[in-house]
Amino acid sequence: MITIIGSGKVGSSAALQIAMKEIVDEILLLDIVEGLPQGEALDINHLLSEQGIDTIVKGSNDYTQMKGSDLVVLIAGVGRKPGMTRMDLLNTNTTIVKGVAEKIREYAKESIVITVTNPLDPMTYVTYKVTGFARERIMGMGNLLDLSRFKSFIAEKINVSRDSIQTLVIGEHGENMLPLVRYSTISGIPLERFLDKAERDQLVEDTRKVAAEVIRLKGATVYAPANAIAEMVESIVDDKRKLLPAAAYLNGEYNVSNIAIGVPIIIGKNGIEKIIELDLNKDERYIFDKGIESVKNAINSLAL
Ligand code: LAC
Repeated sequence: MITIIGSGKVGSSAALQIAMKEIVDEILLLDIVEGLPQGEALDINHLLSEQGIDTIVKGSNDYTQMKGSDLVVLIAGVGRKPGMTRMDLLNTNTTIVKGVAEKIREYAKESIVITVTNPLDPMTYVTYKVTGFARERIMGMGNLLDLSRFKSFIAEKINVSRDSIQTLVIGEHGENMLPLVRYSTISGIPLERFLDKAERDQLVEDTRKVAAEVIRLKGATVYAPANAIAEMVESIVDDKRKLLPAAAYLNGEYNVSNIAIGVPIIIGKNGIEKIIELDLNKDERYIFDKGIESVKNAINSLAL
Protein backbone atom coordinates (compact mmCIF):
# COMPACT_ATOMS: atom_id res chain seq x y z
CA MET A 1 0.00 0.00 0.00
CA ILE A 2 1.08 3.57 -0.70
CA THR A 3 0.17 6.31 1.75
CA ILE A 4 0.09 9.95 0.67
CA ILE A 5 0.13 12.33 3.64
CA GLY A 6 -1.35 15.62 2.51
CA SER A 7 -4.45 15.42 0.34
CA GLY A 8 -4.43 18.87 -1.17
CA LYS A 9 -4.03 19.55 -4.88
CA VAL A 10 -0.61 17.89 -5.23
CA GLY A 11 -1.41 14.90 -3.02
CA SER A 12 -4.71 14.13 -4.70
CA SER A 13 -3.23 14.62 -8.18
CA ALA A 14 -0.35 12.31 -7.26
CA ALA A 15 -2.85 9.69 -6.08
CA LEU A 16 -4.65 9.92 -9.41
CA GLN A 17 -1.47 9.75 -11.49
CA ILE A 18 -0.15 6.77 -9.48
CA ALA A 19 -3.50 4.97 -9.73
CA MET A 20 -3.60 5.50 -13.49
CA LYS A 21 -0.28 3.62 -13.77
CA GLU A 22 -1.98 0.50 -12.32
CA ILE A 23 1.10 -0.38 -10.27
CA VAL A 24 -0.46 -0.72 -6.80
CA ASP A 25 -3.60 -2.26 -5.32
CA GLU A 26 -4.30 0.45 -2.76
CA ILE A 27 -3.53 4.10 -2.13
CA LEU A 28 -4.36 5.80 1.16
CA LEU A 29 -4.87 9.56 1.22
CA LEU A 30 -4.37 11.10 4.67
CA ASP A 31 -5.01 14.65 5.81
CA ILE A 32 -5.89 16.57 8.97
CA VAL A 33 -8.76 18.33 7.17
CA GLU A 34 -11.96 16.39 7.94
CA GLY A 35 -13.56 15.02 4.81
CA LEU A 36 -10.92 16.18 2.32
CA PRO A 37 -9.12 12.85 1.79
CA GLN A 38 -12.41 10.98 1.86
CA GLY A 39 -13.89 13.25 -0.79
CA GLU A 40 -10.80 13.09 -2.98
CA ALA A 41 -10.80 9.28 -2.70
CA LEU A 42 -14.44 9.03 -3.75
CA ASP A 43 -13.93 11.32 -6.72
CA ILE A 44 -10.81 9.46 -7.91
CA ASN A 45 -12.43 6.04 -7.47
CA HIS A 46 -15.30 7.13 -9.69
CA LEU A 47 -12.82 8.05 -12.42
CA LEU A 48 -10.89 4.78 -11.95
CA SER A 49 -14.11 2.82 -12.11
CA GLU A 50 -14.94 4.14 -15.57
CA GLN A 51 -11.35 3.60 -16.63
CA GLY A 52 -11.64 -0.07 -15.57
CA ILE A 53 -8.76 0.37 -13.12
CA ASP A 54 -9.10 -1.64 -9.89
CA THR A 55 -6.65 0.32 -7.73
CA ILE A 56 -8.61 1.35 -4.64
CA VAL A 57 -8.06 4.83 -3.23
CA LYS A 58 -9.04 5.34 0.41
CA GLY A 59 -9.24 8.57 2.39
CA SER A 60 -8.82 9.01 6.14
CA ASN A 61 -7.97 11.46 8.89
CA ASP A 62 -6.56 8.64 11.04
CA TYR A 63 -2.78 8.18 10.81
CA THR A 64 -3.00 4.65 12.24
CA GLN A 65 -4.53 3.64 8.90
CA MET A 66 -1.07 3.83 7.29
CA LYS A 67 0.03 0.71 9.15
CA GLY A 68 1.83 -1.65 6.79
CA SER A 69 2.51 0.97 4.10
CA ASP A 70 5.39 0.04 1.82
CA LEU A 71 5.81 3.60 0.61
CA VAL A 72 4.84 6.96 2.11
CA VAL A 73 4.73 10.27 0.22
CA LEU A 74 5.07 13.17 2.68
CA ILE A 75 3.46 16.30 1.25
CA ALA A 76 1.92 17.72 4.44
CA GLY A 77 2.69 21.37 5.08
CA VAL A 78 1.90 24.83 3.78
CA GLY A 79 2.69 25.87 0.23
CA ARG A 80 4.30 29.13 -0.86
CA LYS A 81 2.25 32.19 -1.62
CA PRO A 82 3.19 34.47 -4.52
CA GLY A 83 6.44 36.30 -3.78
CA MET A 84 7.68 33.77 -1.19
CA THR A 85 10.73 31.54 -1.55
CA ARG A 86 10.56 27.86 -0.59
CA MET A 87 12.96 28.59 2.30
CA ASP A 88 10.40 31.05 3.73
CA LEU A 89 8.39 27.95 4.74
CA LEU A 90 11.20 26.47 6.85
CA ASN A 91 9.95 27.07 10.38
CA THR A 92 6.28 26.37 9.77
CA ASN A 93 6.86 23.21 7.78
CA THR A 94 9.60 21.85 10.04
CA THR A 95 7.05 21.62 12.87
CA ILE A 96 4.57 19.86 10.60
CA VAL A 97 7.09 17.48 9.01
CA LYS A 98 8.57 16.53 12.41
CA GLY A 99 5.13 15.54 13.66
CA VAL A 100 4.31 13.57 10.52
CA ALA A 101 7.72 11.86 10.46
CA GLU A 102 7.11 10.69 14.03
CA LYS A 103 3.86 9.06 12.92
CA ILE A 104 5.61 7.42 9.96
CA ARG A 105 8.21 6.05 12.39
CA GLU A 106 5.39 4.69 14.56
CA TYR A 107 2.95 3.33 11.99
CA ALA A 108 4.97 2.68 8.80
CA LYS A 109 8.24 1.38 10.20
CA GLU A 110 9.30 -0.50 7.07
CA SER A 111 8.30 2.12 4.50
CA ILE A 112 10.33 4.06 1.98
CA VAL A 113 9.56 7.77 2.26
CA ILE A 114 9.45 10.37 -0.52
CA THR A 115 9.45 13.84 1.01
CA VAL A 116 7.87 16.64 -1.06
CA THR A 117 7.19 19.38 1.52
CA ASN A 118 9.22 22.55 1.04
CA PRO A 119 11.89 23.66 1.62
CA LEU A 120 12.53 20.25 0.15
CA ASP A 121 16.14 19.56 1.06
CA PRO A 122 15.89 20.58 4.76
CA MET A 123 12.56 18.72 5.02
CA THR A 124 14.17 15.58 3.57
CA TYR A 125 16.87 15.94 6.23
CA VAL A 126 14.20 16.33 8.95
CA THR A 127 12.39 13.24 7.67
CA TYR A 128 15.64 11.23 7.75
CA LYS A 129 16.60 12.39 11.25
CA VAL A 130 13.17 12.03 12.84
CA THR A 131 12.20 8.66 11.34
CA GLY A 132 15.63 7.22 12.05
CA PHE A 133 15.27 5.08 8.91
CA ALA A 134 18.30 3.98 6.88
CA ARG A 135 19.21 6.77 4.47
CA GLU A 136 18.44 4.53 1.50
CA ARG A 137 14.77 4.67 2.48
CA ILE A 138 14.48 8.47 2.46
CA MET A 139 14.49 10.65 -0.66
CA GLY A 140 13.14 14.05 -1.65
CA MET A 141 11.22 14.97 -4.81
CA GLY A 142 12.42 18.29 -6.17
CA ASN A 143 15.10 18.05 -8.85
CA LEU A 144 12.98 15.77 -11.10
CA LEU A 145 10.39 18.53 -11.14
CA ASP A 146 13.10 21.09 -11.97
CA LEU A 147 14.35 18.74 -14.68
CA SER A 148 10.88 18.55 -16.26
CA ARG A 149 10.81 22.33 -16.51
CA PHE A 150 14.34 22.57 -17.93
CA LYS A 151 13.40 19.91 -20.50
CA SER A 152 10.25 21.87 -21.41
CA PHE A 153 12.23 25.07 -22.01
CA ILE A 154 14.88 23.23 -24.08
CA ALA A 155 12.25 21.56 -26.28
CA GLU A 156 10.47 24.86 -26.86
CA LYS A 157 13.68 26.74 -27.69
CA ILE A 158 15.09 24.11 -30.05
CA ASN A 159 11.69 23.06 -31.39
CA VAL A 160 12.41 19.36 -30.83
CA SER A 161 10.40 16.54 -29.25
CA ARG A 162 10.55 16.55 -25.45
CA ASP A 163 11.11 12.81 -25.75
CA SER A 164 14.47 13.44 -27.43
CA ILE A 165 15.90 15.39 -24.50
CA GLN A 166 18.02 13.93 -21.71
CA THR A 167 19.04 16.30 -18.95
CA LEU A 168 19.82 16.57 -15.25
CA VAL A 169 19.14 19.10 -12.53
CA ILE A 170 20.81 18.59 -9.13
CA GLY A 171 21.56 20.62 -6.02
CA GLU A 172 19.16 22.62 -3.90
CA HIS A 173 15.52 22.49 -4.97
CA GLY A 174 15.44 26.23 -4.67
CA GLU A 175 17.18 29.45 -5.68
CA ASN A 176 20.51 27.61 -6.16
CA MET A 177 19.30 24.67 -8.25
CA LEU A 178 21.83 23.41 -10.78
CA PRO A 179 20.51 22.54 -14.25
CA LEU A 180 23.46 20.66 -15.78
CA VAL A 181 23.91 21.93 -19.34
CA ARG A 182 27.07 19.83 -19.80
CA TYR A 183 25.08 16.69 -19.07
CA SER A 184 22.18 17.63 -21.37
CA THR A 185 21.77 16.10 -24.83
CA ILE A 186 19.28 15.89 -27.65
CA SER A 187 19.39 12.19 -28.57
CA GLY A 188 22.98 12.05 -27.38
CA ILE A 189 24.04 15.24 -29.17
CA PRO A 190 25.36 17.79 -26.64
CA LEU A 191 23.09 20.77 -25.96
CA GLU A 192 25.99 23.11 -26.78
CA ARG A 193 25.58 22.12 -30.42
CA PHE A 194 22.11 23.71 -30.48
CA LEU A 195 22.28 26.73 -28.19
CA ASP A 196 24.96 29.32 -27.52
CA LYS A 197 26.02 30.21 -23.99
CA ALA A 198 23.65 33.16 -23.62
CA GLU A 199 20.70 30.99 -24.70
CA ARG A 200 21.73 28.19 -22.33
CA ASP A 201 22.15 30.59 -19.42
CA GLN A 202 18.70 32.05 -20.11
CA LEU A 203 17.07 28.59 -20.00
CA VAL A 204 18.81 27.88 -16.69
CA GLU A 205 17.50 31.14 -15.26
CA ASP A 206 14.00 30.48 -16.63
CA THR A 207 14.02 27.05 -14.95
CA ARG A 208 14.92 28.60 -11.60
CA LYS A 209 12.11 31.13 -11.80
CA VAL A 210 9.21 29.33 -13.46
CA ALA A 211 7.70 27.72 -10.34
CA ALA A 212 7.20 31.17 -8.80
CA GLU A 213 5.54 32.29 -12.05
CA VAL A 214 3.12 29.35 -11.98
CA ILE A 215 2.28 30.20 -8.37
CA ARG A 216 1.75 33.87 -9.31
CA LEU A 217 -0.57 32.89 -12.16
CA LYS A 218 -2.59 29.98 -10.70
CA GLY A 219 -1.74 29.96 -6.97
CA ALA A 220 0.14 26.65 -6.81
CA THR A 221 2.11 24.12 -8.85
CA VAL A 222 0.15 20.89 -9.07
CA TYR A 223 0.33 18.53 -12.06
CA ALA A 224 4.09 18.64 -12.65
CA PRO A 225 5.02 17.93 -9.00
CA ALA A 226 2.41 15.15 -8.90
CA ASN A 227 3.85 13.64 -12.08
CA ALA A 228 7.38 13.69 -10.69
CA ILE A 229 6.14 11.98 -7.51
CA ALA A 230 4.38 9.30 -9.57
CA GLU A 231 7.53 8.66 -11.65
CA MET A 232 9.63 8.14 -8.52
CA VAL A 233 6.94 5.91 -6.97
CA GLU A 234 6.83 3.78 -10.12
CA SER A 235 10.61 3.35 -10.15
CA ILE A 236 10.39 2.00 -6.58
CA VAL A 237 7.26 -0.14 -6.94
CA ASP A 238 8.31 -1.69 -10.25
CA ASP A 239 12.02 -1.75 -9.30
CA LYS A 240 12.78 0.11 -12.52
CA ARG A 241 16.14 1.36 -11.23
CA LYS A 242 15.67 4.69 -13.06
CA LEU A 243 18.56 7.13 -12.72
CA LEU A 244 16.83 10.31 -11.56
CA PRO A 245 17.88 13.37 -9.52
CA ALA A 246 16.45 13.52 -5.99
CA ALA A 247 17.39 14.76 -2.55
CA ALA A 248 19.41 12.19 -0.60
CA TYR A 249 21.21 12.25 2.75
CA LEU A 250 24.93 12.46 1.91
CA ASN A 251 27.59 10.71 3.91
CA GLY A 252 30.78 11.81 2.17
CA GLU A 253 29.53 11.81 -1.40
CA TYR A 254 30.48 15.04 -3.22
CA ASN A 255 32.74 15.63 -0.19
CA VAL A 256 29.63 16.50 1.82
CA SER A 257 28.15 14.92 4.95
CA ASN A 258 25.15 15.33 7.23
CA ILE A 259 23.01 17.18 4.70
CA ALA A 260 20.24 16.23 2.27
CA ILE A 261 20.52 17.72 -1.21
CA GLY A 262 19.71 16.77 -4.81
CA VAL A 263 22.03 14.32 -6.52
CA PRO A 264 21.62 11.69 -9.26
CA ILE A 265 20.42 8.42 -7.73
CA ILE A 266 19.29 5.03 -8.99
CA ILE A 267 15.79 4.42 -7.63
CA GLY A 268 14.60 0.85 -7.11
CA LYS A 269 12.71 -1.44 -4.75
CA ASN A 270 15.06 -0.60 -1.87
CA GLY A 271 14.71 3.14 -2.41
CA ILE A 272 18.12 4.70 -3.14
CA GLU A 273 20.01 1.83 -4.77
CA LYS A 274 23.05 3.97 -5.61
CA ILE A 275 24.18 7.59 -5.37
CA ILE A 276 25.97 8.71 -8.54
CA GLU A 277 28.91 11.11 -8.12
CA LEU A 278 29.40 13.40 -11.12
CA ASP A 279 32.52 15.34 -12.02
CA LEU A 280 31.49 18.97 -11.63
CA ASN A 281 33.54 21.76 -13.19
CA LYS A 282 34.41 24.95 -11.27
CA ASP A 283 31.26 26.85 -12.23
CA GLU A 284 28.98 23.87 -11.52
CA ARG A 285 30.64 23.19 -8.19
CA TYR A 286 30.23 26.86 -7.23
CA ILE A 287 26.43 26.69 -7.68
CA PHE A 288 26.25 23.25 -6.01
CA ASP A 289 28.18 24.63 -3.03
CA LYS A 290 25.86 27.66 -2.81
CA GLY A 291 22.99 25.21 -2.49
CA ILE A 292 24.85 23.24 0.16
CA GLU A 293 25.47 26.43 2.13
CA SER A 294 21.80 27.42 1.89
CA VAL A 295 20.61 24.00 3.07
CA LYS A 296 23.26 23.78 5.83
CA ASN A 297 22.26 27.20 7.18
CA ALA A 298 18.63 26.06 7.25
CA ILE A 299 19.47 22.76 8.95
CA ASN A 300 21.71 24.47 11.53
CA SER A 301 18.83 26.77 12.49
CA LEU A 302 16.54 23.83 13.34
CA ALA A 303 16.06 22.54 16.86
CA LEU A 304 15.63 18.88 15.96
C1 LAC B 1 7.70 23.50 -7.14
C2 LAC B 1 7.48 23.18 -5.69
C3 LAC B 1 6.88 21.82 -5.52
O1 LAC B 1 8.88 23.66 -7.54
O2 LAC B 1 8.71 23.31 -4.95
O3 LAC B 1 6.69 23.54 -7.86
